[in-house]
Amino acid sequence: MIEGFDKIINRHNTYSTQWDYAIDRFGRNDVLPFSISDTDFAVPKEVQETLKKRIEHPIYGYTRWNHHDYKSAITNWYLKRFNQKFSEDIVAYTPSVVFAISDFIKMHSSPGEAVATFIPMYDAFFNTIESNNRLLVPVKLGDAYSHYKIDWDGLERVLCQKNVKIFLLTNPHNPTGKVFSASELEHIVSFCEQYNVFLISDDIHQDIVYKPNKYTPVLKYAKKNVVLCSSGSKTFNTPGLIGAYILCPNKVDYEQYLIDLKQKNALSSVSIFGMLSQIAEYKCEKYVDHLLPYLDKNMDTVEKFFTEKDLGLKFIKPQGTYLAWIDSSALQLTEDELQHLLIDKGHVGIMKGSTYGDQNRLRMNIACPRSKVIEGLNRIEIALS
Ligand SMILES: Cc1ncc(COP(=O)(O)O)c(C=O)c1O
Repeated sequence: MIEGFDKIINRHNTYSTQWDYAIDRFGRNDVLPFSISDTDFAVPKEVQETLKKRIEHPIYGYTRWNHHDYKSAITNWYLKRFNQKFSEDIVAYTPSVVFAISDFIKMHSSPGEAVATFIPMYDAFFNTIESNNRLLVPVKLGDAYSHYKIDWDGLERVLCQKNVKIFLLTNPHNPTGKVFSASELEHIVSFCEQYNVFLISDDIHQDIVYKPNKYTPVLKYAKKNVVLCSSGSKTFNTPGLIGAYILCPNKVDYEQYLIDLKQKNALSSVSIFGMLSQIAEYKCEKYVDHLLPYLDKNMDTVEKFFTEKDLGLKFIKPQGTYLAWIDSSALQLTEDELQHLLIDKGHVGIMKGSTYGDQNRLRMNIACPRSKVIEGLNRIEIALS
């Protein structure tokens, strides 16, 4: 294995949200954290070399993203990895995926109108939707235990409501790990078209999909009322560099987005390091080809552990993402009691499911050296015994 994913890198004292501010999520700092979705892996060497080279140039002035080097790096990635050809004209920079989601929510709905999304959901969506004074309409999504069931009737009942202007999809889905199939995407797109609902697809976990599952960008089916928001930051571990992108095939929306970005929000420069790393990341196919089996084995380790140990926790490997969505419904404990045992007895920080809308689950980020996964599992066993 070329990338050394087994290597433990001390992240303490780097202002790391996951490691140095565990107290914010778990009430104390002396827990082994498996929380926010970044990884404990070094970025590819090529990415670090690119950044080092730029740092050596001592001027960090206003900088552009709108050029062939940036946009073609992104379109080439979709061609190489997912066999999808996109025009460079639909690519634009965004400082973060959620920034773009927030902008498109404002662009395509008014205060008081509604955004529908599958629940459980990535927790930032609660804030983004509600602090923009939009109504959140949840549609239940099954996880591995219910074969990722989609309630199609429920979805249609929601999308046909006049007040619902946007459907916010996450593909692959955080936290269940569901990867939407091509036919499911077609079905969702046909509902959105039928009821004139704008579709936002957050595909930030797109590279982390386990065989035989296959990621399909929704833009294969949706051509107009749609934006896809993504980044290399989850895969290559660069969210602190600030850089993501949108793929927006509708020219009017694209132009409006640029006005929002540059004029309304006054973002007059790209983050130099976010842009350069994004270009460099999308040349590192081998890194992903090695990362995927490593994460898959981490998932195997978690599955084997919960199958062999009779702790009352159940786990089935997800189709995608590096998030283990663990079923705690058989435990005779409230969520608070479970968290208390994990944190104060096991000294392990695992996200509680209610953060994402399901109090019978735990979310464990397994994008870390296997030894840390094993240590975390042992701490869970200590907590529950
Ligand atoms: C589904 C999903 N979207 C967006 C983000 C955050 O992306 P960004 O930092 O680019 O807004 C995350 C991070 O966990 C995520 O899981």
